Amino acid sequence: MTLSFSIHVRKPANKLSLPKSDCLVLGLFEEGPMTGVALHVDEATRGLVSRLMKAGDFDGKVGSTLLVPEVSGLDASRLMLVGLGQQKELKEKVYQKAAKEAWRALLQRNLEHVTFTLGEVAVPGCTSDWGVGVATQALRYEAYRFTQTKSKPEEKRSTIKRVVFTATQDSEKAAKVVVKKSIALANGTDLARHLSNLPANVCTPTYLADTAKQMAGEWGIKAEVLGMKQISALKMGAFLAVARASAEEPKLIVLQYRGAGAKEAPVVLVGKGITFDSGGISLKPAEGMDEMKYDMCGAAAVLGTVRAIAEMKLKLNVVAIVPTCENMPGGNALKPGDVVTSMKGVTIEILNTDAEGRLILCDALTYAERFKPAAVVDVATLTGACVIALGHHNSGLFSSDDTLADQLLHASRVASDRAWRMPLDEEYFEQFKSKFADMANVGGRPGGSITAACFLSSFAEAYPWAHLDIAGTAWKGGAAKGATGRPVPLLVQFLVERAEAKQ
Ligand code: BES
Ligand code: MN
Ligand code: ZN
Repeated sequence: MTLSFSIHVRKPANKLSLPKSDCLVLGLFEEGPMTGVALHVDEATRGLVSRLMKAGDFDGKVGSTLLVPEVSGLDASRLMLVGLGQQKELKEKVYQKAAKEAWRALLQRNLEHVTFTLGEVAVPGCTSDWGVGVATQALRYEAYRFTQTKSKPEEKRSTIKRVVFTATQDSEKAAKVVVKKSIALANGTDLARHLSNLPANVCTPTYLADTAKQMAGEWGIKAEVLGMKQISALKMGAFLAVARASAEEPKLIVLQYRGAGAKEAPVVLVGKGITFDSGGISLKPAEGMDEMKYDMCGAAAVLGTVRAIAEMKLKLNVVAIVPTCENMPGGNALKPGDVVTSMKGVTIEILNTDAEGRLILCDALTYAERFKPAAVVDVATLTGACVIALGHHNSGLFSSDDTLADQLLHASRVASDRAWRMPLDEEYFEQFKSKFADMANVGGRPGGSITAACFLSSFAEAYPWAHLDIAGTAWKGGAAKGATGRPVPLLVQFLVERAEAKQ
């Protein structure tokens, strides 16, 4: 990626002295007198901005854009106006929409150098560097393209090479820091999106493990990949039961990022890595089954998160555990009615082979105990029921630990990667009663995302634990089909805040 970001301090602040660029991006409110950089641009262009607004060619509505080619009086050959709506209604979401639409419009042009001034807009309740961070992430998010499996990329690639954010003297330092962090976050998010979007015939458990190892090597992270033999030796009977009908070997990926002292208990992230979920013998219907290549988005998010915090050099110990395999039908497949023994020794009656996520995760959660974790967060595209409950905007957050739940909710708000807490009352556990084993692997349709979380919780009693069901948020279907990289922003923010809390 040859995209660079820098900060330019406008001094003296009452004059427009900017580096040369192909486009100057300017935010404007719907009404009210122009201030700050807008006023300077209007003056430098001899009232062009005022005239465009007066004539109704630009109305300042949130997210509207107008590209003015061939402007004179500026150190830029073009001017892009971006609507910020009513000044009194400016809030985070408004700014985020404006930044997103600005980049979308800019990415359609053949621009290389962009000067972006929206970061100077003061958003109530936000620090002065917040807008620059949001703009950096928004560009990287919008510029992402998946091309690996196209012989000729159809979609236009970004031509943007250099972005200069304007800032005031006192916000320069913070802005530089936030740009660096945002790039690290974007790199992690891109990795998660890329792995998620890969088809299942490319992104196999072995491919995922090789990618994890390579990434770990690049960032000085300890990596271990356990294969069939070692997983069997660990007696991960639930994990192996899911993997058994696939021609692909299952893998248990373990990464250990050491950002703090050896004695400090790590945060363990566990990601569901089903590279394809056919449902197994409890086969899924054909329609939309292709989307089950996304059943490893939890794994991808965990790997992306580790990459991001490594680039940030976060002072925290973090372990990533990724159980990865395919869920396939076959002559030797797991069958409804089978009873399997988990690593913990708990026997499980399989009533539906499509409830496979919890089976691979329960053994990973038991494995996590050996790290004596300060906290464990698992991330999984676990249930269709979670999509019914929360739709596509909030991930489901489940935890019996209020402190950990609050930390994750706080991080989700700061990162604009929303999660909503769901219940875990003990009454739900009754739905798992089995005549033939210690428990069944499904608890019926009512509260399907809750019972799935309850199932996991009984394997996570040795440490503070939370579970994120990302079935509705990790990817988009329809015309906008593709991975979102969620919840990398939430997880990274959570870890950043944990690292800060120690100091
Ligand atoms: N990977 C699916 C969950 C899923 C389904 C995510 C649709 C996103 C969209 C999971 O393995 C699964 O199949 N869950 C079953 C559980 C049921 C059999 C108890 C489900 O949600 O239907
Ligand atoms: Mn399934
Ligand atoms: Zn699944």
